[in-house]
Amino acid sequence: MSKTIAIIGAGQMGSGIAQTIAQNGMDVLLADVSLELAEQAVGKIDKAFGKLVGRGKIEIAEADAAMKRITPVGDYNPMGEAEFIIEAATEKEEIKKAIFEKAGEKLGADAIMASNTSSIPITRMANYAPDPARFIGLHFFNPVPVMGLIEVIPGLATSETTTARTRAFAEALGKEVVLSQDEPGFVVNRILLPMINEAVFVLGQSTADIEDIDKGCRLGLNHPMGPLQLADFVGLDTCLDILMVLYKTTRDTKYRPAPLLVKYVEAGWLGRKTARGFYDYSGEEPVPTR
Ligand code: 3HC
Repeated sequence: MSKTIAIIGAGQMGSGIAQTIAQNGMDVLLADVSLELAEQAVGKIDKAFGKLVGRGKIEIAEADAAMKRITPVGDYNPMGEAEFIIEAATEKEEIKKAIFEKAGEKLGADAIMASNTSSIPITRMANYAPDPARFIGLHFFNPVPVMGLIEVIPGLATSETTTARTRAFAEALGKEVVLSQDEPGFVVNRILLPMINEAVFVLGQSTADIEDIDKGCRLGLNHPMGPLQLADFVGLDTCLDILMVLYKTTRDTKYRPAPLLVKYVEAGWLGRKTARGFYDYSGEEPVPTR
């Protein structure tokens, strides 16, 4: 019998995680706040598979088999059979807390509860789960099916068995693992967010325009995307949330958010998801907005 993995939160990250797990031969239960939202996400995953088939990246039979492994669910009841329950909901601690408490009632005796949080402390959130020894951070990168890394973050109470089982699970998805201690931003976001923030300061001080800042990092550093384009991709609200966690928890002013980033978020210009951030995405090609 194949493993069953439950995912709570069917947005961009949750859907990408579901797609990746199903492609690696495991069954997925995908939940969101309603069955309709979970079903809509499954529809989007189907489209993503359709694109991959259309571009000759995978066989249609592989896509069909993966799609059959994903079941949208309207509540947490079927999650008792899951080996892992992975939370990939909005980056708000109250929302995650409610999920851990409710899904925790269904967590199997030997199952692990994991959070895809990008910055909220694992040690603190473990208290919301039924067994802190079986609670861990499992941080995926966007787009999940493409990115080769998963960060594994044990909290203070996480058992060694939980960490070893989680690492083995991440590797079974074909990803490389970086083990991080439970410190703000873990490893990658702790390095990435100051870079994105600095790019916004550079823009705010008119040192260069949007295109040149991104070009500089694409061609000068060989990054696939420039930092402003990447900020739009991640979501400017998410960037600001992570910076605020770094800033508040360390009280180190090097993490203070660039005023222009705050302004963009206040304007509701959140990046690709609102079709406007540092670039305008309403046309065929992204156009810089300043
Ligand atoms: N499923 C499977 N494969 C997919 C896919 C999907 N949903 N979407 C794209 N792909 C594949 C394509 O088939 C293609 O494969 P190929 O190289 O074999 O042809 C490959 O990915 C590249 O796709 P595209 O040609 O469409 O696009 P690009 O070449 O422009 O690459 C990108 C797009 C992979 C997004 C690249 O620009 C990139 O790597 N950008 C940086 C992404 C990044 O840094 N992500 C991390 C963000 S930080 C984060 O997530 C942490 C959080 O906590 C904030």
